[in-house]
Amino acid sequence: MHLINAPLRGGFDKTVARRLRHLTEGQVTTFMEIGGLIPQGASRVNGREIRMVWGNMVKDLGAPLWIRQLLSELSLEHDHSYTTSTGHPPFIAKLIEKLRIEAKQNVTAEDVLVGYGATQLMDLITMFTVNEKRAVFFPEYSYPPFLSGVRARNGKIYAYRVLPNGDPDTEHLKHQIEKAQEDGFRPTYVYVNSPQNPTGVIHSPESLGGTIAVVREFNLDPINENKMFIISDDVYHGLVMSGKNEKVIHPSSLLTEEDNGVVPILQLGSLSKEFGLCGARVGWTYFINCEGIDGMQHLKNGLIYALGVDLCAPSLYQELGARIVLETRHLPEMIAKIAARQDAVQAAFNREGIILGDRPEATFYWWMGIDPNFGTWRNDKEFARMLAMEQGVGFAPGGAFYCGEGTKKQFVRISLVEPPEIIAVAGERLDRFMEEHKR
Ligand SMILES: Cc1ncc(COP(=O)(O)O)c(C=O)c1O
Repeated sequence: MHLINAPLRGGFDKTVARRLRHLTEGQVTTFMEIGGLIPQGASRVNGREIRMVWGNMVKDLGAPLWIRQLLSELSLEHDHSYTTSTGHPPFIAKLIEKLRIEAKQNVTAEDVLVGYGATQLMDLITMFTVNEKRAVFFPEYSYPPFLSGVRARNGKIYAYRVLPNGDPDTEHLKHQIEKAQEDGFRPTYVYVNSPQNPTGVIHSPESLGGTIAVVREFNLDPINENKMFIISDDVYHGLVMSGKNEKVIHPSSLLTEEDNGVVPILQLGSLSKEFGLCGARVGWTYFINCEGIDGMQHLKNGLIYALGVDLCAPSLYQELGARIVLETRHLPEMIAKIAARQDAVQAAFNREGIILGDRPEATFYWWMGIDPNFGTWRNDKEFARMLAMEQGVGFAPGGAFYCGEGTKKQFVRISLVEPPEIIAVAGERLDRFMEEHKR
């Protein structure tokens, strides 16, 4: 059976890390990322405590064989020099084409920036726009490192609610923007992520259009001198279980004439997820509809400067990106792999105490409820901790994703980064754990 290294070093905490390492020497275990996704460790910035994410992300899906073969051939041809710091021109040309095909948006080479993954670009955007007077708007369950990035800049996060179907509650978003203003903060950006990590939900055109409408209304109001923008994190764009890519809409494809020069969108993409190349560290952002909007050119200049300081994203992988980014033939393989793992989760984890919910429509996560009354744990974090310590099965506690007010529900997120046979063993261990800790 496949052996894995637990994501060790920092992360969840050192004891759990040690325990996981010990357990994984035997055989099997865990769903990765447990270390990477638990915000832990505190540091002080300007006298305020902020929580950072430490630890290792270890694994994602992995690239199909033909992509690996292409990479190995390219590595001989390629000269491995620096590229233009904002992106390798042949790659940029393909990215422009990709946006035109997928979202019917036309941008120029100046509107595309390539960085070390979507993460670097997101972090730079936050670094250049967020400070202690700024408010940003995230869905109540969001990707923890991006939340940490805002906290590290002393920005204020207003969470907007997620409806029972997983879509953004745009009424609540509007309410939160007004509240931020009343509280004396300047609304800066709205983050949307479809398909979404952690829930795997594909947002409906209505809810994405509603998000655009909220920003449009805000930006058109003459009282609001400083305009907001949307960050559209579309890194899971191709990973749709139905295989029907047209189901997933880039919010930018919904911009209408009335949004011209009114609703700017920074759209993120990446080789990490859809192509299974998370270690390549190549992502991109499009500046869509940003022309003439105060602040957006300034932000772009900041990003260009920072990317220039970093010299360039990995050149070989940008070269590879130029060859594969318009492809779709990898998708059936990626989706089949995820589907088999979803089947395994349904077979292995469908038990009392775990609320599996519907099969995720997209991404390679499963966002599961846990029944707080079933066992002896107090909350999701303790559940995940005990499970990791005792059985070496790693689930990321939902609390790490939660940025809303009030009581969060009890969730854990698993990453389907292991094959079905390991998921089956994790299911047996989960059964054992649940029996032992039943109230
Ligand atoms: C929502 C979301 N955005 C971005 C990323 C990271 O993308 P990249 O590897 O391109 O930095 C992740 C990784 O898990 C993610 O879940």
